Amino acid sequence: MNNTIIDDLNWRYATKKYDSEKKISAKDFEIICESLRLVPSSYGLQPLKYLVIDDKSTREKLLPLAYNQPQIIDASHLIVLCSFSKITPIEIKNHLELMSAVRNEPLSNYERFGENMQKTFSNLSETATSEWTTRQAYIALGQIIHTCANMRIDATPMEGFDKSAFDEALNLTSNNLQSVLLLALGYRSPEDKLSSLPKVRKPLSEIIEIVK
Ligand SMILES: Cc1cc2nc3c(=O)[nH]c(=O)nc-3n(C[C@H](O)[C@H](O)[C@H](O)COP(=O)(O)O)c2cc1C
Repeated sequence: MNNTIIDDLNWRYATKKYDSEKKISAKDFEIICESLRLVPSSYGLQPLKYLVIDDKSTREKLLPLAYNQPQIIDASHLIVLCSFSKITPIEIKNHLELMSAVRNEPLSNYERFGENMQKTFSNLSETATSEWTTRQAYIALGQIIHTCANMRIDATPMEGFDKSAFDEALNLTSNNLQSVLLLALGYRSPEDKLSSLPKVRKPLSEIIEIVK
């Protein structure tokens, strides 16, 4: 299939071994950050925060908490995708104010919308809210994987880490945050044998069903 989107998606793979000498340029990283900023979310609420772990000693501390996966150290950038643990009336108020300011409309235009949101979240348990915000982080993951592939920057989505240990090490809980996913970014090492393996995917006939 001759298509640039499909080329991007075939080019990418979950990189295991990064070239630790190759760093993403500041200019490219700016694009990655802007793609994260543009991620859609339910209600537009954006209950997410992205921690870019720049400090080497912090990465070393996190390594054993992520089953010693080498990407933690070798990737150019390591991002912890976090979501809000709770949605409080303050988050809702902040969102309404942002909408009103960005769109230059009176806050009262968003009153009904705010009441609906408030009602939804007051009916959700803490666990259900944390699961809801967690799902928003997966949307960011999907988007950023394609952004990076388009830029020919490698990316590894990672769920293989101890979330509670990360939350503690990065002092997330007291900041209303929970770690959801890790994202290692950088450039593949020529020694990564995974890069040349064919993609293992089910045939289209098994995953797409036209309901008539
Ligand atoms: C949510 C999620 C979590 C993953 N966690 C890890 C991980 O902790 N470590 C790792 O090396 N790969 C991880 N992967 C990569 C998958 O194993 C990989 O995407 C899958 O085998 C398909 O291969 P491909 O991405 O190379 O096409 C994860 C992928 C996803 C989507």
